[in-house]
Amino acid sequence: MVDVEGWLRHRTWFAVALSSEINGGAVHRAELFDDRLVVFRESSGAPVVLGARCPHMGADLGLGEVVGDTIRCTFHHFCFGADGRCASVPSGERVPPAAHVPSFPAVERWGLVWAFNGEEPEGEPPGIRGYDDTGLVVRARRTDVFPVEPWVILGNSFDFQHLRYVHGLRFEDPDPITWNEDGTVEYDVPFDSDEIGSFAQRIRVSGTNTVSYVTSGAVDSMGLFTSTPCATGSQSYYLAATSRDGDAEAIEARLAFQEVVADSLLVDDIRAFTGMDFREGAFVSADRHLVQWFRHARNFPVFAR
Ligand code: FES
Ligand SMILES: [Fe+2]
Repeated sequence: MVDVEGWLRHRTWFAVALSSEINGGAVHRAELFDDRLVVFRESSGAPVVLGARCPHMGADLGLGEVVGDTIRCTFHHFCFGADGRCASVPSGERVPPAAHVPSFPAVERWGLVWAFNGEEPEGEPPGIRGYDDTGLVVRARRTDVFPVEPWVILGNSFDFQHLRYVHGLRFEDPDPITWNEDGTVEYDVPFDSDEIGSFAQRIRVSGTNTVSYVTSGAVDSMGLFTSTPCATGSQSYYLAATSRDGDAEAIEARLAFQEVVADSLLVDDIRAFTGMDFREGAFVSADRHLVQWFRHARNFPVFAR
């Protein structure tokens, strides 16, 4: 069992749905930490992310229906708009002042709906280093649930020992690692491996839960991995991305190849995380970047509603 209640509620962007899950008026039920959320689209197509506990009697708004620009509770038909306020009650009475739910800043990017854990969004949802949204074809999917906090999973990006011993890569620790003012962290690293050959990666870590990479050399690929804390652990999403070069078949082949590579790497990571009881432990000097990351995560701003 994971103790989500004690997890750090970082003020950052979290993926809460695949774009495809809210198309055609569909309503998606999501979780962020131990809160239930409801995700849907307004008539303009803009995504809306609200707390899902109906303030009338506690029904799950995720079981409601989209009506106009609102989500209508399945029980007594109170309707809630993007600002979280109750827009109408079916009896036509005055709306009680307490009839509102938390509203999360929401943005759709890369085939995912992102919610910001805070009153006002800071920056944009994570991107792929060196690319804007228009230059790429992307495919997002939901992957595994890990029993540790997202920032512990993201520690893998600074855990250079595990890249050697779990993934069998040969390389020098990246230098420099740039800890940017906006909270992102970037580095470049050339790798060599018996299985894959030589390749280089441009890494960017955003928030405490997302890493994007651009790989060149023996494998050309781009991707983004992000995790969202929920009641059962960290729900992870993987996004494969590629250029628009070539016909649909060529694009499909590249996306599929990236997913296979990502899955094969994840198999080894999943084994390490399964059943893990995380505590910061007996670090050695080879862990210094990992230790710095954990310090970064512990000092990262938090937001609790
Ligand atoms: S519980 Fe939602 S309207 Fe009554
Ligand atoms: Fe790994």
